[in-house]
Amino acid sequence: MAREVRVHPGDLVLPVFVKEGLTEPVEIASMPGVLQHSRESLRRAVSEAADAGLAGVMLFGVPAVRDAVGSGATDPDGILNLAIADAVEAGGGRLVVMADLCLDEFTDHGHCGVLRTNAAGEPVVDNDATLERYVDMALAQARAGAHLLGLSGMMDDQTGAVRDALDEAGFQDVTLLAYAAKYASVFYGPFRDAVESTLTGDRMTYQMDPANRREAAREVALDVEQGADVVMVKPALPYLDVLADVAATSAVPVAAYQVSGEYAMIEAAAANGWIDRRRAIEESVLAIRRAGADLVLTYWATELARWLAEPT
Ligand code: PBG
Repeated sequence: MAREVRVHPGDLVLPVFVKEGLTEPVEIASMPGVLQHSRESLRRAVSEAADAGLAGVMLFGVPAVRDAVGSGATDPDGILNLAIADAVEAGGGRLVVMADLCLDEFTDHGHCGVLRTNAAGEPVVDNDATLERYVDMALAQARAGAHLLGLSGMMDDQTGAVRDALDEAGFQDVTLLAYAAKYASVFYGPFRDAVESTLTGDRMTYQMDPANRREAAREVALDVEQGADVVMVKPALPYLDVLADVAATSAVPVAAYQVSGEYAMIEAAAANGWIDRRRAIEESVLAIRRAGADLVLTYWATELARWLAEPT
């Protein structure tokens, strides 16, 4: 009776990986229980997510071939674009189909954008050339039927560039979720296994410094001004202070991403018998809701939603 916050299946979004060329799903070693899906098993996962009452699924593609500009991301027959259409069909209008809009899974160097050479002769991410790729990727995803695009690349002005391009092409109903405050975090480690990332080095030049709390407000304001419908804080548990700040002031709904490393830590401790798995999952997601997230992206979304539906 006296609870201040609750978790409902409709607050949860399931991130899912789909890999080109798979006939059977493959388990991800550093994320026990999470799969790289085939197109067929993806359909089943989406339909189960809808049955469980989730808000949506967030799709990530793992292509068979990568190149410098991430061509697979804009190919209408690229794995992510095909998966979007599959998920829209399998979801049957019962959940929101979200697509990751970023190049890192598609580039052979693993960065979130295209590269240029700086004055010192080093390869660096070219922000503005990347925006052109994001615009093409957004149009390909919208054409495939995505309901929401998750802008996770952390390029400056990506939200405005994509919003303008979608408006011009007549896709004014496509929702934009901006990963507004995305930190350069070690907790993305297992995700990079999941997408077989080729990245060497880090993303410190475009993702946020974990030391910065106030900067998040500036990132959020820019994204909202440029047309973001939802803003996100990521990771979740190590950044609840940032999440609480953003939730207190945001003009739009706020999402938080309980990332792969957060998942792996609880699974590993539970597998060793060091922690009560179910209670750790429930408490961690409740804490993220309590800090102010309206939506939580979590790899446990379907399982947690089923627990929530059990009679108490
Ligand atoms: C970038 C992207 C990443 C994650 C989601 N989108 C990886 C990164 O920024 O390196 C991480 C999610 C997770 O760790 O669960 N496309």
